Amino acid sequence: CAPSSGGGGGEAQAKELKVAILAPLSGPVPTFGVSTRDGALMAIDEWNAKGGVLGMKIVPIVEDSQCTPDPAVNAANKVIDQDGVKFIIGEVCSKASIPVSEIANAKGVLQISPTSTNVSVTVDSQGKVKPYIFRACFIDPFQGQVGAKFAWEKLGAKKAFIMLDQANDYVKGLAEEFEKAFTALGGEIVGKATYTDKDTDFSAILAQIADAKPDVVYLPDYYNIVNLVMKQAKEKGINVPFVGGDGWDSADLDLAAADGGFFTNHYSPDDPRPEVQNFRKAYGEKYKDENGNPKVPDALAALAYDATNLLLEAINQAGTTDTAKVKDTLEKIKFSGVSGQITFDANHNPIKSAVILAVKDGAVRFETVVNP
Ligand code: PHE
Repeated sequence: CAPSSGGGGGEAQAKELKVAILAPLSGPVPTFGVSTRDGALMAIDEWNAKGGVLGMKIVPIVEDSQCTPDPAVNAANKVIDQDGVKFIIGEVCSKASIPVSEIANAKGVLQISPTSTNVSVTVDSQGKVKPYIFRACFIDPFQGQVGAKFAWEKLGAKKAFIMLDQANDYVKGLAEEFEKAFTALGGEIVGKATYTDKDTDFSAILAQIADAKPDVVYLPDYYNIVNLVMKQAKEKGINVPFVGGDGWDSADLDLAAADGGFFTNHYSPDDPRPEVQNFRKAYGEKYKDENGNPKVPDALAALAYDATNLLLEAINQAGTTDTAKVKDTLEKIKFSGVSGQITFDANHNPIKSAVILAVKDGAVRFETVVNP
């Protein structure tokens, strides 16, 4: 039932399938955008090399959505209204994916965020699932629990200090989940301090931390903030271990500043499973760093690759690009990706394991896997 190539004059049947990739290529976290774009494009190239999907060539439309609500919304409106896109991979950051999801869902456009972990990406304020919105990653209630349990059990922490940017849905959500889980285990939150993404001087908060003497500091923000905070903490001689979340995952994480820290993540490129090692090899052959060395795919690259394969597999299985049918197929799909198995719960969230990574001596090391 693949569409024929049309021919002659008049309206040919679709020969191309447009897929939008909304990625933060500029703004605060550009490594997230580059990895996401590259992982998604790699999947699309592989499908096109095998003849595309349902006989159609897949045409990516990449937009820079900046990890920021307004540019992300503009990008979503542009790809939907001008380009006629019915499928979106993105955004990366929860605070950008949430407003995009409102638009996509209202217009029957199918969106899969590879990486946005905040609960509100796939469910509305009444707690009802948004039918056209899915994600390829676990959610923050799980990620926060994993971080808290690690701090409590493995680091032996009894007292935690939490730092958060309340204007960032991801950071705020993860901080709340960590607090809930850590106190449920018997831990105490000895301090909580807020900052904004415009702040560059964290000395006041670091002085509070020095006074509160916590056993662990939870800093669930992106690498740009982590670099600033942890560098200043080191300069002030604060030696408490910092724990964070997937937002630390970046080729631009300052490994000297973040030394001694730990973060929860979706995947490790050092996982020996053949799916992971084959992906790492193929990605490194396709993409090189500025010195010509193979790039190592981070979690964003792996999840964008998985999200794109998941979408194309669902279209293939549905036998149509009708998003109402593709979403029904996704709800029942059993998909095996680089980052693990994906099947969806009622809220369109996959149940997946997490890994804990340690930043030590100039490298990011695989520590352990945590199953849901
Ligand atoms: N989980 C982050 C968010 O929801 C995005 C992210 C995922 C960043 C994976 C880095 C790695 O905003």
